[in-house]
Amino acid sequence: MKAENRASNRALKVVASSPRGVERPAREALTAWLMVVLAAVIFAGGLFGYDQGVISSALPGITRTFSLSLFMTQVVTSYVTLGALVGSFIGGALSDLIGRKRAMLVAGLLFVLGAAMQWSAPGALILVVGRFVVGVGVGVAAVAAPLYAAELAPATLRGRFISSYQLAITIGIFLAYLVNAQLARAELSTNPAWRTMLGAAAVPGVIMVLIALIAPESPRWLMMRGRRAAAERVALDVQPGIDVDARLEAIEASLLADRNAGSWRELFSAQWRRPLLVAVGLAVFQQITGINAIIYYANQIFEAAGFTTEASRAAVTAWAIGGVNVVSTLIAIAFIDHIGRRMLLLAGLIGMGASLIVAGAAFQWIAGAAHAGASNGPTAAGIVTVFALVVFIISFAFSLGPVVWTVINEVFPARVRGRGVALATAVNWGSAYVVSQFFLSLVHAIGSSLTFWLFAAFCVVGWIWIYRAVPETKRQSLEQIQDMWSRSSR
Ligand code: BGC
Repeated sequence: MKAENRASNRALKVVASSPRGVERPAREALTAWLMVVLAAVIFAGGLFGYDQGVISSALPGITRTFSLSLFMTQVVTSYVTLGALVGSFIGGALSDLIGRKRAMLVAGLLFVLGAAMQWSAPGALILVVGRFVVGVGVGVAAVAAPLYAAELAPATLRGRFISSYQLAITIGIFLAYLVNAQLARAELSTNPAWRTMLGAAAVPGVIMVLIALIAPESPRWLMMRGRRAAAERVALDVQPGIDVDARLEAIEASLLADRNAGSWRELFSAQWRRPLLVAVGLAVFQQITGINAIIYYANQIFEAAGFTTEASRAAVTAWAIGGVNVVSTLIAIAFIDHIGRRMLLLAGLIGMGASLIVAGAAFQWIAGAAHAGASNGPTAAGIVTVFALVVFIISFAFSLGPVVWTVINEVFPARVRGRGVALATAVNWGSAYVVSQFFLSLVHAIGSSLTFWLFAAFCVVGWIWIYRAVPETKRQSLEQIQDMWSRSSR
């Protein structure tokens, strides 16, 4: 608790010494403290993104250093996702056991440890363990950080705090691609530049540890632990001038409601079957339509498309995939509450499906040109591939990217929300794991064109299913959504 007080006092001191003076401590202290909360969410998402994006350009070097088989190449890629699956299961329990702040601290330490293991890996095994350790950090942070943000952010900012997590993932991916492009330009690729790429994640990892150390603990968790006086102090430190009794009473009431929360059995009961299907279905379709095949394997895809130098591949990956993803996500977050969820999902899937069909056709063309002996440098087909993948990323980033997470968090009634969201999240990571573990094998077995067309087929199936099964939830209160399920199950 002393640390928590120190943290909040520090936040106040920052404010007191600000040019605007001490006259408005309530608002300024809130701002300084909110930045810490936001920073925690951003670093948690950003580190996930970085560890996802970095592998794309690091893979060729790793494969060379350790002479990896196709199977092992996929293991190195996918184990972050598998670790995240495990971490998300641990994350909820850990956040309850040791607190949200310390859970984020653990996640930060895992990021640093995993990065160090990857950087120094003498062989593929340690590298894979390092990837897995980072993944567990990702999973723990992915549960603890949004939970922390949701418990500490003022209600008016809660939505934006949570969606900044998605934005941070895309920024992390982009930064990783930029680091890769820089290293490729510096022609470090003969020296194992991949070690620097993977090890660099230790820097934001250390910053995350520092943020977690200075962050105040969540008053809600302190109340869960029966530490009312401590909760009162933190709540007042964080938002000086609030009606602290009312705040703590509200927390008490919701803790009481949680105590009566539904069981796993209730989540699977006929009554909640529809929201469960909607959440899990969306989680699966977000992944099996191919986003992470492109995020992880962009480098290989562009190599096949005729980008022969490491530097050209790294640059096109950074800007066409990474940069476009960030900008489109920003736009989507601004519009998500104005345009309906269904509309965005259905429109996005059309763009994704169409671009995958074009990418598949371009690869047929590339194969034909290779047979004819034409190659060297990005061909016309290569340019078409880049264009198709840009359209794919834009379509994903304004639809399935942010909308799926929004819907997953709003379809469940409060009684089963915690468990429902956890299950859908785990299913999402499970599906991401399957795609990243088997993408290259699939390309090897049936070729790039058919693989892209398979993803396109999933877009068609997803479109039909969403059209029939996913209701519009825009502008409805969580209670109205709950009523809708109750009516439809009668
Ligand atoms: C997905 C991730 C994906 C990211 C790309 C997220 O919504 O869950 O799997 O890598 O979007 O921006």
